[in-house]
Amino acid sequence: MSLKPNWGEGRLVAPSQFSSVHYLSVFEQLFDRYGPLNYLEIGVCRGQSMQHARGHAVGVDPHFQIDFPVYKGKSALKLFQKTSDDFFQEVDVQQEFNGEPIDLAFIDGLHTAEQTLIDFQNVESYLHRDSVVMLHDCIPQTIESAEPTRTTLYWTGDVWRTAVCLQEHRPDLQVAALDCRPSGLLMVTGFDPGRLDSPCLLDHLAEITDISSYVDGLQVYSTDEFLDDMPAQLKDVGATLGRLEDRLILAN
Ligand SMILES: C[S@@+](CC[C@H](N)C(=O)[O-])C[C@H]1O[C@@H](n2cnc3c(N)ncnc32)[C@H](O)[C@@H]1O
Repeated sequence: MSLKPNWGEGRLVAPSQFSSVHYLSVFEQLFDRYGPLNYLEIGVCRGQSMQHARGHAVGVDPHFQIDFPVYKGKSALKLFQKTSDDFFQEVDVQQEFNGEPIDLAFIDGLHTAEQTLIDFQNVESYLHRDSVVMLHDCIPQTIESAEPTRTTLYWTGDVWRTAVCLQEHRPDLQVAALDCRPSGLLMVTGFDPGRLDSPCLLDHLAEITDISSYVDGLQVYSTDEFLDDMPAQLKDVGATLGRLEDRLILAN
């Protein structure tokens, strides 16, 4: 099937509503600021986001397209050429991180609500209380590019439904969207590693259909302000990253 070479029909958010900061720059600045982290990335593709990781990094993708030295600046990098489902089923994730929890996870693999929710729930088993999980493409620009089935070259998929699901059914977590280009980053914090019974939320996805209400009601934080003055701007995420910084200083 040929894909439409555009963003798709049905404008939801104007490009001017996004910050001038690209999401890759957020990664670069986060790693510059917080240094070596235990980092898991689901969906690596060419390694554009993975290249910024510092510390111990693990990447998962069934079709890597890396053609440059993405390992630079890392103490360790291991890549698993498999789907995220196979990764979580077949790999001892804790062992891959030398028995330590994951500090930062980026979910950017298959962009359907079901898969991103499954990825999120799998990742949650390996976090500590100050971990941060980011999901890409939470602010879709057009209705067509936000469908679960891909018809447009630029496609964010229905990851937005995962964002709604977490907002509505996980009040224990803090969920905040950054307005970085081209389609936002969802930042999730407030994890409780002692929690044994994280509910399976997949059944709730079918109820989530109203994309316009989601976009209108989304609390979007300024990426520029977040990067300039992290703790003040995104209180919970900033505080979490601040605690992460303390933890890393203690560890080093
Ligand atoms: C948008 S790209 C990732 C881009 C990368 N994170 C970056 O920012 O530079 C999405 C990637 O997800 C991978 N992918 C697709 N299905 C997947 C799955 N089930 N599990 C893991 N990765 C998957 C694709 O092969 C593709 O390389």
